[in-house]
Amino acid sequence: MERQEVLQTLIDKRGYTTYLEIGVLGGMVFFPIRCKRKIAVDPEFRFNWKGRVGETIRNPSNINAKYFETTSDDFFENQSTGVFCKHPLDIALIDGMHEFDYVLNDVNNCLRYLSDDGVLLLHDCNPLSNEAEESFARWKNRGFAGYWNGDVWKVIPYLRKYRPDLNVFVADCDHGLGVISINGKKVEATDSGRDEFRNLEYRDLDKNRTELLNLKPVSFLKDFLLKGKAYENR
Ligand SMILES: C[S@@+](CC[C@H](N)C(=O)[O-])C[C@H]1O[C@@H](n2cnc3c(N)ncnc32)[C@H](O)[C@@H]1O
Repeated sequence: MERQEVLQTLIDKRGYTTYLEIGVLGGMVFFPIRCKRKIAVDPEFRFNWKGRVGETIRNPSNINAKYFETTSDDFFENQSTGVFCKHPLDIALIDGMHEFDYVLNDVNNCLRYLSDDGVLLLHDCNPLSNEAEESFARWKNRGFAGYWNGDVWKVIPYLRKYRPDLNVFVADCDHGLGVISINGKKVEATDSGRDEFRNLEYRDLDKNRTELLNLKPVSFLKDFLLKGKAYENR
């Protein structure tokens, strides 16, 4: 099961109206999504206004889409309050810079605006090799060779330890789809514990993958999509 199908199923089943995608690239996932309010954030969109017009003809949902060509940190510092003041965030795909601190910032920032029954999806939570997990700088030095997941995965055990207010699991599909939903009164985000998780290595994941990621089969994800948020999965 791929991220686009998961997003659309949740939007349709739960009647979500506000979708945010952080890291959009060419819009392969963003443009086909059908949702009333769509927000795209990326420092470098790989499409121009003509592409947007074409995608709006293909999918009229894009007519009201908002595009922010900037980093997610800048978006949340300068634009997000205005964007979400009337309508909270229902669902987000976090797929921007695939390094621990960036991803954790994105999660914390999205949680500030997430509706009580909203969902955050994190792409690339289950790297299967040392190379796929290395830093952006090293991947760049290798000429962007091979598939790169980065160390997004570290955010999962971090949240499971420090955020008892969240349900967090990773579905074993599409390079590891992290699924985050709210399971109680929201706890204030802090920076404590970041070092402990930032310094983990690929071999730590490889030794204890299922436990660290709360890795679940696709059948579990399908069940989550059917049953919604009344789900205890920590
Ligand atoms: C893996 S691609 C996104 C793919 C897209 N979500 C999809 O499913 O087709 C990652 C994107 O993140 C963007 N990106 C890099 N740094 C970012 C940042 N700090 N904030 C937001 N997006 C960022 C890149 O420009 C790139 O387009």
